[in-house]
Amino acid sequence: MNHELTDADKDKDSASFVTPTGEKIVLTFKPFRIDVFIKKELTVSINSKNLLKFEHFREKGAADTDEEGFWEESFKSFQDSKPYGSSSVGVDISFLGYKFIYGIPNADTFALRSTTNSEPYRFYNLDVFEYELNNPMALYGSIPYVIAHNQHQTLSLLWLNSAETWADIHSSTADKGMLASIVDKFRPSSEVPQIDVHFISETGVIDLFLFLGPKPKDVFRQYASLTGVTPLPPQFAIAYHQCRWNYKDEADVAGVHAGFDEHDIPFDVIWLDIEYTDGKKYFTWDSTKFPTPKEMQNQLAANGRKLVTIIDPHIKKDSGYHIYKEAQDLGYFVKKSNGDDYEGHCWPGASSYLDYMNPTVRDWWASQYALDKFAGSTENLWIWNDMNEPSVFSGPETTMEKDAKHYGGWEHREVHNIYGLMMHMSTHQGLLQRSNKRLRPFILTRSFFAGTQRTAAVWTGDNAAEWSHLKSTVPMLLKMSTSGIPFVGADVGGFFKNPDEQLLVRWYQAGAFQPFFRAHAHIDTRRREPWLFSEQTKDAIKKAIKARYRFLPYWYTLFYEHEKTGLPIMRPVWAEFPEDENSFDEEREWLVGNALLVRPVMDPDVTQTSLYLPGLSEVWYEWDSHKSRPGPGAVYIDTPIDKIPVYQRGGTIIPVRERPRRASKLMRNDPITLYIATNYKDFANGTLYMDDGETFEYKNGDYLYWGFTFKKINEYDFSISSKNLDTNGKFDPDVWIEKIVIRG
Ligand code: GLC
Repeated sequence: MNHELTDADKDKDSASFVTPTGEKIVLTFKPFRIDVFIKKELTVSINSKNLLKFEHFREKGAADTDEEGFWEESFKSFQDSKPYGSSSVGVDISFLGYKFIYGIPNADTFALRSTTNSEPYRFYNLDVFEYELNNPMALYGSIPYVIAHNQHQTLSLLWLNSAETWADIHSSTADKGMLASIVDKFRPSSEVPQIDVHFISETGVIDLFLFLGPKPKDVFRQYASLTGVTPLPPQFAIAYHQCRWNYKDEADVAGVHAGFDEHDIPFDVIWLDIEYTDGKKYFTWDSTKFPTPKEMQNQLAANGRKLVTIIDPHIKKDSGYHIYKEAQDLGYFVKKSNGDDYEGHCWPGASSYLDYMNPTVRDWWASQYALDKFAGSTENLWIWNDMNEPSVFSGPETTMEKDAKHYGGWEHREVHNIYGLMMHMSTHQGLLQRSNKRLRPFILTRSFFAGTQRTAAVWTGDNAAEWSHLKSTVPMLLKMSTSGIPFVGADVGGFFKNPDEQLLVRWYQAGAFQPFFRAHAHIDTRRREPWLFSEQTKDAIKKAIKARYRFLPYWYTLFYEHEKTGLPIMRPVWAEFPEDENSFDEEREWLVGNALLVRPVMDPDVTQTSLYLPGLSEVWYEWDSHKSRPGPGAVYIDTPIDKIPVYQRGGTIIPVRERPRRASKLMRNDPITLYIATNYKDFANGTLYMDDGETFEYKNGDYLYWGFTFKKINEYDFSISSKNLDTNGKFDPDVWIEKIVIRG
């Protein structure tokens, strides 16, 4: 909402107004404070601790600018020239009545910890070698966003700043701190739990957004209305991806492609890492190892499969390299503070970095993806943008110097955290243009910021083949999912080190129920294609991948619904059960959509696993056995090596395809089976979305959005009905329902 103060307001000590949804906002002018009252209770207070800070740009020699570090700083051997001096901004925000706060994607716990006795959470996109878990350190992406949640109300807050940022979180109960007097006034009887968040950025302006809920799903929708949603991906993108650094040559690719068929394991996409290029020059191919890339792609396409290749932002300094030469001639590189082209080291050695902050550079970069420009590419080739923090091996903290200069005179310090976003946005534009806006692009990025969801999927970077890293996939992906990025995954199997067979199987089982499902491994690891292990391991991996393919109609429907509603696809339990306090710190299980609860095994040698079934008056059905259990409560389930604990929520209907084929494209016309799980009222409903799986024709009405309802009519009879939920959808698939399974 928009509220402007009147002149009359300005003469008073404070002003207040009421939002269209009934919240009261009170602005106090001196000292400045904003209080938000929800249902008459003080719920959010901004600047009650008086940490508001706004250092404007200064001239050298101005008063109070002589403290150390104000005009220059050094980090190891690096000098930061700080031509505008110190220019930080910050503010404190208190959430009253809250014990739990989430958000801040990184490798820490899902429910954020208080940083009172530790380093603050840090937002600075970095290529961190062997990152640590349970640590507030900066990682590849930044979303300065928090979500406060209690049984009655969910609120969130975005601190929109792309410079280096920190957040301190302090939780307290008895100590009412600086708010004591006003809390006592408005909430006299209670010991009000309180969470204080303090955001501070190195530079920039204050741009703060508060989303008032009241429920988790309202907050997701409100945040998406500001930062955007992930448009429906092509169907292959939500199937299984096979990657490693590196598939060596065309024969290797053909061998893997054939191996999956021989062992009857589905897969949709094979990936090529940096070694496919001619000397790490992107948009080129190593002509010895990949002499016929188009034929290779066509062969994959003949079985409904795709290729993804990596394209990074560092451009090899080599005047014989067309991309470098053109960009240099056109002045498209980021500049050093002295105005020369910026130079740093990355995979190819000495490299320059494109200035994606410049719209002309973005257009130029996008045009490189045209089929007649990117030699050896076809419409079956999709893109992986890595190292876009940007990673600079020779730079401070493995990134770019802060005083490097971008388009418009902006220093790198101002825009650091959106460099990757600008790059993958431009790649997205290129892939759209390549097909004349016919095909939906697929791009994977490592660096991200608020809004990344509009043009790319994200993975969690270089994890390790360790049980702790498998476990950390859940909080890491839940953080990103609840912070607006739904299409997320982690390297299945772990990037560094060699997983043992048990860990690999368990990782596939978890990954099969996470939004982006890709196996990947470091160049120094042993090969891991599923058939290289024991029969038992191969079969368990196959079973997990096939589970993914069975549920594809459900996943696809959820992605469509995300585009409409902004709801995450991988959801924390509290997103569906906001009142179930037992699950507020849950980070081992999650829901896929509203209907499937998943709790994979993430410990070695376990034969039984306990999980929590949430919700009062809920009933849950174990997927394989149909056995029902009431919520809320814990259950134990046998988990032999090929078992994935999955429960269907009573009251839901899930569409699946029971015949996993070699690639998802080949399943397009296969019939659907409906799994109906009734609730205590003998009711259930669900949806199914279908379209051609790859084009934008769904925007022109070529889709079908169907609803199913199960109802009790009387003691002996029930009905199952279906209905076109959106009559704008005109798609007529050649698909029928072959089977209905009723649980309960
Ligand atoms: C980075 C990526 C990793 C990739 C490697 C080589 O470490 O995170 O996934 O395999 O670079 O390109």
